[in-house]
Amino acid sequence: MSRNADLAALVRDRAGAEPPELGLILGSGLGHLAGAVEGVAIPYADLPGLPHAGVSGHNPQLVIGQLEGRRVAVFGGRAHYYESGRADAMRPALELLRDLGCERLILTNAAGSLRPDIRPGGLMLLSDHISFAGTNPLIGEASDARFVPMTDAHDPDLRTALKSAAAAEGVALPEGVYCWFSGPSFETPAEIRAACILGADAVGMSTVPEVILARFLGLRCAAVSVITNMGAGLSAEAISHEHTKAMAPLGAAKLERVLRRLLRQS
Ligand code: HPA
Repeated sequence: MSRNADLAALVRDRAGAEPPELGLILGSGLGHLAGAVEGVAIPYADLPGLPHAGVSGHNPQLVIGQLEGRRVAVFGGRAHYYESGRADAMRPALELLRDLGCERLILTNAAGSLRPDIRPGGLMLLSDHISFAGTNPLIGEASDARFVPMTDAHDPDLRTALKSAAAAEGVALPEGVYCWFSGPSFETPAEIRAACILGADAVGMSTVPEVILARFLGLRCAAVSVITNMGAGLSAEAISHEHTKAMAPLGAAKLERVLRRLLRQS
């Protein structure tokens, strides 16, 4: 039995065999959403291969159970490229999701906005992304499956469902392009100006490798940013991880309403 099959067997043993209908990966300051799920929480430390999720503001456990009457698998924290230099650090988590029979995934993150109409405390649905980190989680993958098409990587049906859930909740959910910078330093104002010229609407340090891996593994995915600040140089406000963690709960409350509505509607 492969290591991944072992992992799925371990999770089924503890949380039951029914496939999750939706997977969720929670970003910085958003990990508490895992607490809303009625189910079994398994610390990443019990799941060999899963990241240690060493960034404060993350909640390193997998919770499988019911949210709004639907079976979900929620990863309370993620590993970032900047923690280890490995862009594929979330691959075991995504493979686990696939092995559990889950076919849909929603990724969340904290991000800086480049658009005056998308303010801190608001949400942005990713319509597409730009990878600006100079790496790819599939480097080293030997199979031809590595040549993953990235057109409609952000699943149109899932995005439509999210927009309809947001509208029903009265939550603004503009769409925009997310630009992945490696971090961990924040961007310079010149980099933010460059990202604007390139067509980005928000910047962040995660999510893009997971979208690539999800498409590689055949999972349909969409991603939502919780805007915690304006990009460097676009406002007088100082940018810091503390600020990200302090601001994330504002958007997280809206995100939770949208996700709950999505589950009730689907
Ligand atoms: N840049 C990159 N990542 C972020 C930001 C930002 O401004 N805000 C929250 N995560």
